[in-house]
Amino acid sequence: MHVISRFKMKFWYVIIIILAALCFIIWQNNSIVVTESDYVNAKIPEAFHNFKIAHISDLHNKRFGKGQTKILKKLKNISPDIIVITGDMIDRRKYDLDAALEFIEGAISIAPVYYVSGNHEAWSGKYESIKESLEKAGVTVLDDIRVELKRGDSTIYISGLSDPDFLTSSYLEGTETTSVEEQLRQWSAYNDDFNILLSHRPELFDMYCKYGMDLIFTGHAHGGQFRIPFIGGLVAPDQGFFPKYTSGSHTKNLSTMYVSRGLGNSIVPIRIFNRPEIVVVSLESRQQSGR
Ligand SMILES: [Fe+2]
Repeated sequence: MHVISRFKMKFWYVIIIILAALCFIIWQNNSIVVTESDYVNAKIPEAFHNFKIAHISDLHNKRFGKGQTKILKKLKNISPDIIVITGDMIDRRKYDLDAALEFIEGAISIAPVYYVSGNHEAWSGKYESIKESLEKAGVTVLDDIRVELKRGDSTIYISGLSDPDFLTSSYLEGTETTSVEEQLRQWSAYNDDFNILLSHRPELFDMYCKYGMDLIFTGHAHGGQFRIPFIGGLVAPDQGFFPKYTSGSHTKNLSTMYVSRGLGNSIVPIRIFNRPEIVVVSLESRQQSGR
């Protein structure tokens, strides 16, 4: 009798641990964090002081509530001036453009949306229809183009690199970056302006610095998938184990890069200590901030 009751206790103990672990994983993968910071640069015109940019990345077809209502409510509360998306809205393995478009249609009613592709759009083989749908919804697709943002008489610029995996015929071939570098070299002629760059790839940070890009938004690393306290991300595509660029901001010379931990998952279906993230950056004009 005594043995049976000890067995029962152990059984319920295991069940409670399993349920607690499940609740933790569900919370870790569905509860969105908003990470806010200010960015100061002398080139930012006074008219763009407090200009708020919401950064979305790596949705990978994930749905946050029916019709993406949970993430859209978060985004609306942020009240951004623009929304930038740095690729992987879809996942090539579980392709579902509707999930991405539900988000896009809500986002475009909050603020203008600027987008660059990621490796999953490149690998999907369906980029033409993805791009067509995004543009039909009102998104500005920055496939190696540079456009202006105006406030009164003042102008800043936003450019976007299409994912370098469009240049390879197979995702097993590795990343070809020659034309990325050539594009950056061309844009570096406009370094007197304030330039925002959207790119899926954080691992090319040194290249963005070399060509003097000011403020860069990237994704791709999924926060390193599992975040180890006091150490950082565990693994990221194209950076391997203990990757350098998985979250937060990184500054070198005159360039600052924000890396979104992203929202969804791809091969590995769960995140640990790495909740889905919306990055928010407010521009500060040096004249206004006094810095
Ligand atoms: Fe991704």
